Amino acid sequence: MRHRSTSKNNLISLLNPSSPVSEVYKTLRTNIQFSSIDTQHQVIMVTSSVKGEGKTTTISNLAVAYAQEGKKVLLIDCDLRSPSIHEVFSQVNHAGLSSILAGQHPWQEIVRDTAADTLSLLTSGPIPPNPAEMLSSKRMHDLIDELRNHYDVIFLDAPPVLAVTDSLVLNGLCDGVVLVVLAGKVDKNLVKKTAASLSHVNARLIGTVLNRINRRERGAVFTYY
Ligand SMILES: Nc1ncnc2c1ncn2[C@@H]1O[C@H](COP(=O)(O)OP(=O)(O)O)[C@@H](O)[C@H]1O
Ligand SMILES: [Mg+2]
Repeated sequence: MRHRSTSKNNLISLLNPSSPVSEVYKTLRTNIQFSSIDTQHQVIMVTSSVKGEGKTTTISNLAVAYAQEGKKVLLIDCDLRSPSIHEVFSQVNHAGLSSILAGQHPWQEIVRDTAADTLSLLTSGPIPPNPAEMLSSKRMHDLIDELRNHYDVIFLDAPPVLAVTDSLVLNGLCDGVVLVVLAGKVDKNLVKKTAASLSHVNARLIGTVLNRINRRERGAVFTYY
């Protein structure tokens, strides 16, 4: 029987760790680690120019690849407008980041375990009316500072750069940014505009992932910026 294409299928690193595609994400992990010799990349954001370029797919598999190395990893869905990490990991999303930022719960009550041993998840929580405000709040700042004491690596899944200011705001909280570019589909000028916006907020670009969405040739290529 053919499987229905569910978002769970995107978690190939977890479902089939030795597949060639999972190797791609391990290589991406290694490349990020090699680029981190002089700078500590503990909090890493993954973003893109527009939606649908593969941010969530990339960051989820990357987080699994780090966890497979025994790192204590936290993956946070900071795309408070169009969250999807909970779907990738088949988790409920009644409470999450937005609930913590609204002061409803302490983070210890909301962070969940996953099927990958050392990978924990903080889903978005209910979609708030003021995402940019929430993400730029002192509470968000303090939360990330506190979480740095508990995890080796923290990944932030972010909204696209050209749509809203959220990811530029999040840049202030992270040590490095990985830019996902949907190969051959997104206008070069849009990518240039995105790079300029990131550079304007002094983002430390770790690298660019050229994502190729093709059912047969599923894969991603990592390039240094
Ligand atoms: N390398 C890839 N190969 C095949 N499908 C992909 C790949 N990357 C992403 N996709 C698919 O493309 C769609 C958008 O990807 P997603 O990661 O949700 O993008 P974003 O988070 O940037 O909006 C999803 O349905 C996902 O399954
Ligand atoms: Mg996404």
